[in-house]
Amino acid sequence: MQTATLLLGLRSPTACGLLKCTLARGTQSLSLKARRACAPLSTSCTRRQSEARGTSPKSLDVLGTTYATDSWTNTPPAILAKTGRDLLHQTSHPLAILKELIFKEFPTFAHYDSLSPVVSTYQNFDSLGFAQDHPGRSKTDTYYVNQSTLLRTHTSAHQLQLLAAGSRDENGILMQAKNSAAAPRNERFLVAADVYRRDEIDASHYPVFHQMEGVCTFSREEVRDTARQATAAKRQDKAGKVDCPDQAAQMIDTTVVGDGNPIQAAHSAEEAAFLVDNMKQAMNDMVVHILTKAVAAQQSSGDACAPGNQPQFPVRWIDAYFPFTSPSWEMEVLFQGEWLEICGCGVMKQEILNQADMPDRIGWAFGFGLERLAMLLFGVQDIRLFWSSDPRFAGQFSPGRINSFRPFSRHPSCAKDVSFWLPSGSTFHENDIMDLVRETAGDLVEGVKLIDSFTHPKTGKGSRCYRINYCSMDRNVTNEEINGVQELVRKRMVEQLGVTLR
Ligand code: DAH
Repeated sequence: MQTATLLLGLRSPTACGLLKCTLARGTQSLSLKARRACAPLSTSCTRRQSEARGTSPKSLDVLGTTYATDSWTNTPPAILAKTGRDLLHQTSHPLAILKELIFKEFPTFAHYDSLSPVVSTYQNFDSLGFAQDHPGRSKTDTYYVNQSTLLRTHTSAHQLQLLAAGSRDENGILMQAKNSAAAPRNERFLVAADVYRRDEIDASHYPVFHQMEGVCTFSREEVRDTARQATAAKRQDKAGKVDCPDQAAQMIDTTVVGDGNPIQAAHSAEEAAFLVDNMKQAMNDMVVHILTKAVAAQQSSGDACAPGNQPQFPVRWIDAYFPFTSPSWEMEVLFQGEWLEICGCGVMKQEILNQADMPDRIGWAFGFGLERLAMLLFGVQDIRLFWSSDPRFAGQFSPGRINSFRPFSRHPSCAKDVSFWLPSGSTFHENDIMDLVRETAGDLVEGVKLIDSFTHPKTGKGSRCYRINYCSMDRNVTNEEINGVQELVRKRMVEQLGVTLR
């Protein structure tokens, strides 16, 4: 089996589990990460947290529905509050503008953008073939409402549900599509939605972000009969091709389908070649279209030297692994000297289509990270800005218009360190610190970084030092205010994580 590197920029050499482990601070990975093996969180730790908070509620309300809680519940109030923000429906918001741009690129697809973020564990993982011990399922990576219900970690959670709704003619769901007439049985659809992952904190990571899922299926008969089949097979042979169809994007694809990234036994070589070619074509077209708009926006801003501006974006295809596709790829864009992962994709595992009662259809799927594309498109440098209600941010955008964001003056940031001994006999996960700081400081926190880590040679005790950077996106904060927040963070770390401050 192949492992996939999941980071943009910095890549961790530590292989742990199915996918490579990501410990460095790159841009938010799209892929479900394998970190449990690196830093497990014991159940006792989580229980202690909620006991200490004295807030283990019997139920949670999410978007008007009440859910019973259990020992898996780990979704804090600050995250629950994000479920109602609905950025994709604020027509002047960059993410909503990007969503509409992509919807327009796929006019023959059904368009969904109002599916609830609360899904079953089955939808998010089992329906896609995630192994029971896949690290993505761990409480350290995923926000659970309870054991069988969670905040979706990716839009792929809706693949089986929407395909099955199409094949079984479930009118209720089908009618939720914006242009259901284009693909009346969900044979092709896009899903734009908010997704939730426990993660580190920095300028390109946020525990809530947005994805655009694309699914496109064909009847086997349609594929057999089409003349495109021959062309598709021929194109796939051209390994190592580098074509530059456009000024704004330079597409690089040296991947080859083969043992390391195999086609499925359920597909003939022609079927697989057709799907791969059709998918790559559709995705290349979309990315070139978006990057062309990004470059045009930079140029018309008249500030060609602004940070982040590039006259051309190299884009490369690399082999990847996902439990629900084979062969699989990721697409990366070179942005400010770093390869930025913008999407995962591949030929859908036939089991999913069979499960949806469509064994006679085959298909491909992709999942794009919208924040990353929006950062390129609008020149936004800090992911927190997407959540800002500061009029200096919101006022710069209008529906349907792509323009470069003009950064407003930054307020000074302020760094505070916290050093502590880890509790003995218990495991500790970095994401517990991330959630605790975010719960305490909200969007005042700009980044949290491990700056020192050692084990005492005599006592064997582990020590950590984290640097917390505080900076408001929209106002000046006083040192006294930050000191107060930092004190609260320190106090809660003792109470909730059982650490000993140094
Ligand atoms: N859901 C994946 C993730 O968030 C991205 C992805 C990969 C989506 C491959 C797809 C796909 O539809 O085919 O990491």
